[in-house]
Parts: sequence; structure tokens; C-alpha cells
Amino acid sequence: MDWGIKNRLARIIKPETGHTVMLAVDHGYFLGPTSRLEEPHKTIAPLLPHADAVMLTRGILRAEVSPHTQTAIVLRVSGGSSIVGENLANEGITTSMEDAVRLNVAGVALSIFVGTKYEHQTLLNLAHLVDKGEEYGIPVLAVTAVGKELEKRDATYLALCCRIAAEIGARFVKTYYCENFEKVVKGCPVPIVIAGGPKLATEADALEIAHNAIQEGAVGVDMGRNIWQSDHPVAMIKAIRAIVHENASIKEALDILNGLKADKVKA
Ligand code: 5RP
Repeated sequence: MDWGIKNRLARIIKPETGHTVMLAVDHGYFLGPTSRLEEPHKTIAPLLPHADAVMLTRGILRAEVSPHTQTAIVLRVSGGSSIVGENLANEGITTSMEDAVRLNVAGVALSIFVGTKYEHQTLLNLAHLVDKGEEYGIPVLAVTAVGKELEKRDATYLALCCRIAAEIGARFVKTYYCENFEKVVKGCPVPIVIAGGPKLATEADALEIAHNAIQEGAVGVDMGRNIWQSDHPVAMIKAIRAIVHENASIKEALDILNGLKADKVKA
């Protein structure tokens, strides 16, 4: 592997543990000012020191994140559709590789929509992005997006998506945790991170997903709403870190979370 790609990947997936905590705050690119991400800097700033990488668009990066940050940047470079538009899957590439280089990113991310009307288009987007990424030494993260069709999130479908992304040349893949997740990991020759999805009923549910994904072979999480829509986002990301980097059990992570909540109440 090219030195630049290896170095950038090592800024995201930490060589010390082989794992990563990515903070996803790119939701506005199709959802607009999502709840608790209305003023991105207020959400992002306290969480950034606890994330190995942050995933976001160039607009939010430039306007809302300090250029002094030491957290790796994974730039969302696909889009072109919105939640009120005709079809969320109808994405193109929205940011050039040259701009990604100017922004000193560690990686770029793009969604693929396998099994939709826009499968071909989004897979060719990925192929084009990988060609450009390899030229500049920037790893590409393929996101196996499911749009509104969440019922498709089973191991057979996600294994298909992840494998196709890896075959086209994605250096790492983001998908959903699911039952029989080992099947997804087994069929994918590049590292996998998991999204959290919409906010779950309890924080314990989100910690459980992160824990199970790591135990079953994910290298980390690229989590958004289950962190920053929590009433205790910093405590939540710290608990997730313990699972991802320190092999904490669900109970240990919950103890960390509850301990930090209690400290906040006392302060
Ligand atoms: C949207 C994305 C989001 O970054 C992803 O869904 C992660 O955030 P969350 O944990 O809130 O689902 O890639 O396509």
C-alpha cells in the first residue's frame, strides 16, 4: 500500500489498538439542521478531543471546526439529494479530490446505494473517487447507505454491499451492525466501521451495538446520533471509546457513562 494511504489510514484507525472512534456529523448534507446539530460547532467542539476522526462536509469543516484540531478529518464528498427530494439515492460527487487535499483530510467518504435505481451511478461514483484517491494517496470510505429502506439491513444484503465496495477499491467501509454480523466481516477484505443509526431507546442499546460489532470484527464505529443526541454526549463518547479501544464490556462502559453523569450532577 502506498505510504500516504497507510499514513492517513493510521491517523483514522489507530495503530496502537487497530481500532477507531469516528464521530459522524455529516447528517446535514441531506437532513438539514438535524436535532442537536443545529449549530454544529456547539455539538462538535466538546466531542472532538475524544474522537479519532470526524466525518463531515467541507462546508461544516470550514465554518464550524477549528483548523488547530488534531482530530483526523474524513470528508463527506457525496450528496446532491435531500430528505424532501425525489430519491435520496440519487447522489453524485460534491467535492473534488483537489479540495480534499487542500483541506488536509485523512480520508474521503461517499455513499453507495446497492439495490436501488441509482446502484450503477453510485458504484461508478465510488470507482471514480477511488481512482482519484489512489492518485493523491487519500483512502476512500464507502458508506453502504440504505436510505429510507431500513428493513434491508440484514447480513446478506450488507455483506453484498460491503464486498462490492471493497472490490471497487474502498480502503474501508461503513455499514450497519446486524444479526449475523460476522458474515459481513468475513466477506469484506477491508476494515469495517459501523454507523449507529437513529437514536436508540437507551444509551445501553447503543453501547451494546458498539460492543457486539467490535467483538464480531468491526474495527470501530462511525457514530453520530446515538452520541450527540444523548443528554450526555461527552460521557457517551468516552464510554464508546472504552469499548472500542480498551475492550470494555457493556457493563464497564455503562459504569463509565453513569459515573461521568453523576460527576456532572455533583459539579
Ligand atoms: C449518513 C451517514 C451518517 O454519517 C451515518 O448514518 C452515521 O451517523 P449515525 O450514527 O447517526 O447513523 O453516513 O449516510
